[in-house]
Amino acid sequence: MKSPIVAPSILAADFANLQHEIEMINRSEADWIHIDVMDGVFVPNISLGLPICEAINRHARKTMDVHLMIVQPERYLTEFKKAGAEYLTVHLEACPHLHRTIQQIKDLGCKAGVALNPHTSVESLRDVIEMLDLVCLMSVNPGFGGQKFIARTYQKIKDLKTLISEENSSALIEIDGGVNEANAHALLDSGADVLVAGNFVFSSANPEQTIAGLKQVLV
Ligand code: DX5
Ligand code: ZN
Repeated sequence: MKSPIVAPSILAADFANLQHEIEMINRSEADWIHIDVMDGVFVPNISLGLPICEAINRHARKTMDVHLMIVQPERYLTEFKKAGAEYLTVHLEACPHLHRTIQQIKDLGCKAGVALNPHTSVESLRDVIEMLDLVCLMSVNPGFGGQKFIARTYQKIKDLKTLISEENSSALIEIDGGVNEANAHALLDSGADVLVAGNFVFSSANPEQTIAGLKQVLV
């Protein structure tokens, strides 16, 4: 039996009550806190940056999973490590020298993740998959919470699972965007390991219970 690693996305939280929201995640059965950093260039939105990440780190007792939706992420890796990032995920589409960027993340002592936009084939990771701790499959176009899940993701999970086993990688498969109780079981069943959930958690009447519900999804 396997249950997912659950990573609530702080993007959907009440930023005016961040400490309260983090304490809720600390109390909950969540495994990680997913932190979306957007620069208004790689994606058409600006979210939060280093000072907020540092502030989250002062209160969070869960693993900080930092998703960098920014151009030239290599310029900021050291700073995000200092701000508490344990998983550092960069976008393949933002990294012309992806192999080097992954190496830089690992040299910092962080777990290395690569995120793929919905249009990017998992095959493009073949030559680096063995180095990775995490692959984040975007199941919406990055930039905003609350979007509709893209169903093609199920096939991508299966393809990625095959690639991971062919190349003897231990990378976890993370799904980010539009995750909820209706698709969580099928995602896990397809081979997902980590479920990111923003609006589904924070727009619910009882976010702690919603997180517990996701943890109870078993395959
Ligand atoms: C989208 C972000 C996601 C987002 C998910 O660009 O990477 O992490 O917060 O939000 P929901 O779960 O609401 O789709
Ligand atoms: Zn994200």
